[in-house]
Amino acid sequence: MKKTISTSTKISVVMGLTALVSLSAFAHNHGQHGNKEQGHGQQERAQAHGSHAHLYPANMVVHLRPTRGNEGKFGMVTFERTDDGVKVMAHLEGMPANSTHGFHVHEFGDCSAPDATSAGSHFNPNETQHGARDAEHRHVGDLGNIETNRSGMAHVEFVDQGLTMRGPHSILGRAVVVHEQADDLTSQPVGNAGARVLCGVIGVAKN
Ligand code: CU
Ligand code: ZN
Repeated sequence: MKKTISTSTKISVVMGLTALVSLSAFAHNHGQHGNKEQGHGQQERAQAHGSHAHLYPANMVVHLRPTRGNEGKFGMVTFERTDDGVKVMAHLEGMPANSTHGFHVHEFGDCSAPDATSAGSHFNPNETQHGARDAEHRHVGDLGNIETNRSGMAHVEFVDQGLTMRGPHSILGRAVVVHEQADDLTSQPVGNAGARVLCGVIGVAKN
């Protein structure tokens, strides 16, 4: 029984859209035990039985795809939970040479619009102002800028104190967006970084 609950919860989190199906299947199978077995009670029990690893993966990955008109650009970002914060590694290719591009986590894991506006605005669960990555006030999703080299490639690594990989403010299932222009790190509400050129949804990575 415990194993069933744990697996059900894991599938709910990882599969996103199938969560409702999974939960309703759980409710159907275990409903005879009463309401305490469902909803929040289910999640609390799953945590009590040590399934944090499934709910809060230590590694996440995003493959960035070009928006319309940006074919040839691509990228990948990984997020790793460490004792000092979230280690971010980003790699971009096919970008303009020697250029600077706003780099954010956006609120919705939906890159389906041709211009990626479906990803919504910056991920901002604390309802704060836009800012630089090391600013006192910033959106959770504010990751500053990425600079490309003369070949239009970029590789950056940093440890960020603002991102969260667990709990209600987790970046799991949200989007990473790279912009056409630089984030000026001060303009409200989103740093004036222009169009979105790359977008991808943050998923669970292999450990
Ligand atoms: Cu952005
Ligand atoms: Zn922002």
